[in-house]
Amino acid sequence: MTALTLSTAGAATLRADALVVGVAKGPKGPVVAAGAEAVDKAFDGKLATVLDALGASGAEGEITKLPAPDGLKVPVVLAVGLGAVPEKDESYDEEALRRAAGAASRALNGTKKAAFALPLEDASAVTAVAEGALLGAYAFTAYQGGENKTGKSGKEAPKGPLAEVVLLGAKPRDKEHKAAAERAKIVANEVNIARDLINTPPNDLTPEAFAAVAQTTAKELGIKVQVLDEKALVKGGFGGIMGVGKGSENPPRLVKIAYTHPKAEKTLAFVGKGITYDSGGISLKPAGHNETMKCDMSGAAAVFASVVAVAKLGLAVNVTGWLALAENMPSGSATRPGDVLRMYSGKTVEVLNTDAEGRLVLGDALTRASEENPDAIVDVATLTGAMVLALGNRTFGIMANDDAFRTSIHEIAEEVGEASWPMPLPADLRKGMDSPTADIANMGERMGGGLVAGLFLQEFVGEGITWAHLDIAGPAFHEGAPYGYTPKGGTGSAVRTLVRLAERTATGDLG
Ligand code: BES
Ligand code: MN
Ligand code: ZN
Repeated sequence: MTALTLSTAGAATLRADALVVGVAKGPKGPVVAAGAEAVDKAFDGKLATVLDALGASGAEGEITKLPAPDGLKVPVVLAVGLGAVPEKDESYDEEALRRAAGAASRALNGTKKAAFALPLEDASAVTAVAEGALLGAYAFTAYQGGENKTGKSGKEAPKGPLAEVVLLGAKPRDKEHKAAAERAKIVANEVNIARDLINTPPNDLTPEAFAAVAQTTAKELGIKVQVLDEKALVKGGFGGIMGVGKGSENPPRLVKIAYTHPKAEKTLAFVGKGITYDSGGISLKPAGHNETMKCDMSGAAAVFASVVAVAKLGLAVNVTGWLALAENMPSGSATRPGDVLRMYSGKTVEVLNTDAEGRLVLGDALTRASEENPDAIVDVATLTGAMVLALGNRTFGIMANDDAFRTSIHEIAEEVGEASWPMPLPADLRKGMDSPTADIANMGERMGGGLVAGLFLQEFVGEGITWAHLDIAGPAFHEGAPYGYTPKGGTGSAVRTLVRLAERTATGDLG
């Protein structure tokens, strides 16, 4: 875990392996951002001119490395683009700071210590830069640099993430700055833990292994955890989770992880889709569609990480996480297209396509979560390819049975820098799931497939409970080039939104 400290030391006096400064895109070329005055001075006031000469423009995410002049106690200055210079009297947008800090951290992979001299106008800027720097300082190297049988190392040892971040201009004795940095540390660390879980290959991260991680962490934190194994799931009537998991050698689990606070007035339930691998089952996915399906437990990873973050933050709200864990595999014991499952709620489902498995495990978990009568339920799932077609790779869809709650979540996501968009649950799509044999089918019309899935889930939410569904199939796993604080692979999508929702609920400040 990357270390983070605050320091009021001058940028010219601190010893480090690199010094990060911000450069914005001005109308007449690059502009050095606030926080870097001492660095500019060491360049004889010509840092902007030098950057211009090197072709830097200040565009978002642009990285320029310069040898440090005499007078600085670092070998390298790294200028990171912040995008457009803010309007007069306005400050840098938090997300612009978060992304710039993240891009700088990524460019410093393998470096020991870097000082960040970015513009820090207030405590929220401290959170943004700290969060961005820590989220960018991520590398998943657990499976690299192995020895091969000839005794030669397979590859060069992988570069670890930037090890130490010093935020210059943030005051370690200022209560607000300190709290902002502490919050950023906890949240970023948990996002990175969600990323690790997502990136861990499915032969190692089985439902049982994921449940064991939850148990170990809960014990360390002193919070409650309960794991239902396959026997308990059969006995309890969890036909959805069992129906999906029974084709696999790695049996399913339902994990409940519960944080409570003595002064809490509200209880939230977070429910995560945890398909540790989605082959499609008997309705097997073709090659080209299954290579990244270890990411199909990203919802459960987000739920787990956010409950842990809420516990570490000690928020005055109760939060229960439900992880619906199963591996979707084809085999002689797998559910067939045409089978009918009896769900935990008692409803029967005709499985027309075993690749529509997420809604089956979530249906059971939503009913189970509803039994405890929480004030609201939010489920998070890599549920449909249709949502990716609708919103692209960076935006998650929000559906809900309550318009105000959907709007609140959309606003909260925006606030923490997660792209999302409200989606409807059109009632007319329900009839497409009518089954001649059972109460409902697990598939409906192809058009609007993301909304059809949302309508299916809604049937398993308890009467009168406020509920929202986040379909993170697009942003959960990033296959393109890294950008800002977003690495390749698992992104930790929705963790920051869930944590902020819990914070808002704790303070009674929800829309
Ligand atoms: N896990 C997939 C959805 C998915 C697709 C996640 C792409 C991430 C990236 C889900 O289980 C699935 O296979 N959904 C089917 C549903 C269909 C059979 C009704 C889909 O979207 O094609
Ligand atoms: Mn599937
Ligand atoms: Zn799936």
